Amino acid sequence: MTDPSPAAAALHRALEMIEPTTLREQATTDGGYVELLGDVPAPNPTVASRAMNNRGVAAIYEKIWRPFGVSMMGIGGLSMSAERAKALTDLRLHGEQRVLDVASGPGNFTKFLSEKLTGDGIAVGFDISEAMLARAVRDNRGPRAAYVRGDAANLPYADGTFDAVCCYAALYLVPEPLRVVSELIRVLRPGGRIAIMTSCELRSTPLRVAIGFGSGRMGVRMFPKNQFTDIFARSGMTDIEQEIRGLAQFVSATKQ
Ligand SMILES: C[S@@+](CC[C@H](N)C(=O)[O-])C[C@H]1O[C@@H](n2cnc3c(N)ncnc32)[C@H](O)[C@@H]1O
Repeated sequence: MTDPSPAAAALHRALEMIEPTTLREQATTDGGYVELLGDVPAPNPTVASRAMNNRGVAAIYEKIWRPFGVSMMGIGGLSMSAERAKALTDLRLHGEQRVLDVASGPGNFTKFLSEKLTGDGIAVGFDISEAMLARAVRDNRGPRAAYVRGDAANLPYADGTFDAVCCYAALYLVPEPLRVVSELIRVLRPGGRIAIMTSCELRSTPLRVAIGFGSGRMGVRMFPKNQFTDIFARSGMTDIEQEIRGLAQFVSATKQ
């Protein structure tokens, strides 16, 4: 029997957005999310990626793992709810917009963003980890929140599909962060907003080297302060804003 719930309708809408059509036709939805990778498991090359693919970590991610990680990055004073509010402001979210939350983990931002939308608005959480997506379906689906499993380096969407695109706490984990960023920009429509949160190198050389060495062993990359502002500027984006807090940077911009 077909599931008539609003969450099932959101899942169906998320499926309909997938391009090309051939990919959409191969997708399954048995797990409560759109599965684009079939039986291929999420890659496990580093300590950090192994954690993201672990069901135990996924279960405690939203309430324990992330708040702890954020405090380790020294994002002083910015609680999860303040970070969500910042995302909302940076993305200028409203109405019937389509939002893509890349590397959405257990949907800890996706669901919140979806609740700010109305009518046909939808927030799609996109991630590669089965464990995280299972948790997202359990804890954070809704009438305007649905999830897709795929690789952020190859987003399965036509150019300009989304009104807003975000990627929090993930670019430092993926093998090809710059390719992911170019994909984020590609699927954003002109006039749309992008917002990322990622790592930021310190100025002090000895500390920078020490932190870079330690994080590198875990599979976490540190980015220079100007790397993403420069990429956004070179892509012709405007209204570029950057906020640095401890070892984290928040960067947002408007596509032209
Ligand atoms: C630390 S979590 C971030 C979750 C959430 N965005 C947040 O801010 O709390 C990083 C996520 O990136 C996902 N991820 C890593 N590589 C990915 C890839 N190539 N494509 C999509 N997601 C990926 C992981 O599975 C994990 O759920």
